[in-house]
Amino acid sequence: MYRTHNCGELRISDVGKEVTLSGWAQTIRDKGFMMWIDLRDRYGVTQLLFNEEISTPELFKAARTVGREYVIQAKGVVIERISKNDKIPTGDIEIEVKELTILNASKVPPFTIEDDTDGGDDLRMKYRYLDLRRNTVQQNIIFRSKLAIETRKYLAGKDFLEIETPFLIKSTPEGARDFIVPSRMNPGQFYALPQSPQTFKQILMVAGMDKYFQIVKCFRDEDLRADRQPEFTQIDCEMAFVTQEEVLATFEGLTKHLFKAIKNINLPDFPLMTYDEAVRRFGSDKPDLRFGMEFTELNDVAQNKGFKVFDSVELVVGINASGAGEYSRKQIDELTEFVQRPQIGAKGLVYVKYNADGSFKSSVDKFFSQSDLNSWAEKMGAKPGDLMLVLAGEEEKTRKQLNELRLEMGRRLGLMKPGDFKPLWVVDFPLLEWDEDTERFYAMHHPFTSPKKDDVSRMLDGDHETMKSLRADAYDLVINGVEIGGGSIRIHDRALQERNFKLLGFTPEEAEAQFGFLMGAFEYGAPPHGGIAFGFDRLCAVMNGQNSIRDFIAFPKNNMGRDMMIDAPSPVHKEQLDELHLRQVGVEEKKG
Ligand code: AMO
Repeated sequence: MYRTHNCGELRISDVGKEVTLSGWAQTIRDKGFMMWIDLRDRYGVTQLLFNEEISTPELFKAARTVGREYVIQAKGVVIERISKNDKIPTGDIEIEVKELTILNASKVPPFTIEDDTDGGDDLRMKYRYLDLRRNTVQQNIIFRSKLAIETRKYLAGKDFLEIETPFLIKSTPEGARDFIVPSRMNPGQFYALPQSPQTFKQILMVAGMDKYFQIVKCFRDEDLRADRQPEFTQIDCEMAFVTQEEVLATFEGLTKHLFKAIKNINLPDFPLMTYDEAVRRFGSDKPDLRFGMEFTELNDVAQNKGFKVFDSVELVVGINASGAGEYSRKQIDELTEFVQRPQIGAKGLVYVKYNADGSFKSSVDKFFSQSDLNSWAEKMGAKPGDLMLVLAGEEEKTRKQLNELRLEMGRRLGLMKPGDFKPLWVVDFPLLEWDEDTERFYAMHHPFTSPKKDDVSRMLDGDHETMKSLRADAYDLVINGVEIGGGSIRIHDRALQERNFKLLGFTPEEAEAQFGFLMGAFEYGAPPHGGIAFGFDRLCAVMNGQNSIRDFIAFPKNNMGRDMMIDAPSPVHKEQLDELHLRQVGVEEKKG
């Protein structure tokens, strides 16, 4: 037997027991006549004691050969520690070692394997197996495992079936590029890895499966960020004979269950906010509701007072940063630079300080009297000691810019509290989004999303402008400003699906070639259906108050989409390419 106990379980009540432990040597302290080794495994750390008075010289010698990260087995007796450590659960005891076996040696690790490590990102990714030994990272992976198990329990309890869908499929447009896989048996033809199981789960509803879920890998070849990986995981679901309300109730129930079961947090009912309201109040379809700082439109009090910058624009809009009235010149300059960064793109920032004595100091004092500024303050609900920040310009862009500034102020004022969770449903998204540059419509969610019932007839025979006003039965779950999940009620009627493809710029032939199987299925008794998918990695990160999903993935990719441990992607042998007919494809293309 390698062990009688793990490294996290012995307590003062175990004193006197003969035990055997196995694990990794985390830290080694040698005082000459006494030696301690902290033995670590997934469950914790237990201190081993080697005492010159009791240990044989051979045992003491063997202990001296142990290096960091050696895998060892120790047999001995549990004793009470003289100097206790109240930071760890096993801190009252130690093991007086009688027998030591070195199970495997280790090279000196390239970084320290403790909560705070000296290893840089790339090094930790290259030696991910060592990084994963660190308690903080290990806890994230354990958290993820619990979340997956609880998700399965909850959904199984609601009659969902877990059904696998294929990874080698044909492209499904979810807005990103596909990863493609050449087919050896079908020269010149390719599979695509699924961006999501969308069409398959809809087909499962046509097939009468009624309620489906899967914790499933999705693949999207898009630019990577802290909350985006090229392969990520969804809790993917679909239900037949459901309304939007029923989908939301089921997945609000799942979310509450996960918070309760794993974090012992009772979430209140999730508020519902329409897309239009979210954009108007927060300039974003994923507002962080941990703090207020809502938008106030100022056109009626700020225009036609002789300040040209404001007079000529579509929208003057501001936020009130409570308690930031003492901001220095330098801090305000930083905010101005922040909004002027190319990624945000504002031309400038107007500020108004509401002084403690009731007077105002602003960057537009030349154009606005104290009483003008007072009317801004009234509209914005500002009080002495506050700082009003105002942007102006084209409506949509200005709202987006002010959203960024609001989040920055939230960060600066410490309003995004890590233990605070503010979920909401954003509903009634537009069905289609018009893109000025390419002069075409894009599906705001995806092409299988249904317009609201009342909008169906307008969609079938309306003109171009009408299309811009169509609303969809589409919804997102947002927690603390992060889009955790999105879904919709689907089209289940061939004519309506054809119409949608046409609006999205598909010719009937293209639509048939790509999605004929789905539209064909709709002709054989497709039930009304809808569903949702949660970003599983994001849910893990948000529940732990983290921005980056990487630490919750056992083997993540870096920002270049590389796996640093196995060194992928990498070149392949010419023979492999030949077998896949890839050279032939290349040659043919050149000729063409
Ligand atoms: P959507 O494209 O909104 O919907 O994706 C659902 C959720 O998946 C997460 N997500 C990601 N997480 C990490 N890395 C990525 N690259 C990434 N891309 C998306 C987000 C997102 O909310 N088939 C539809 C769902 C449906 O309609 O039922 C879909 O995939 O948290």
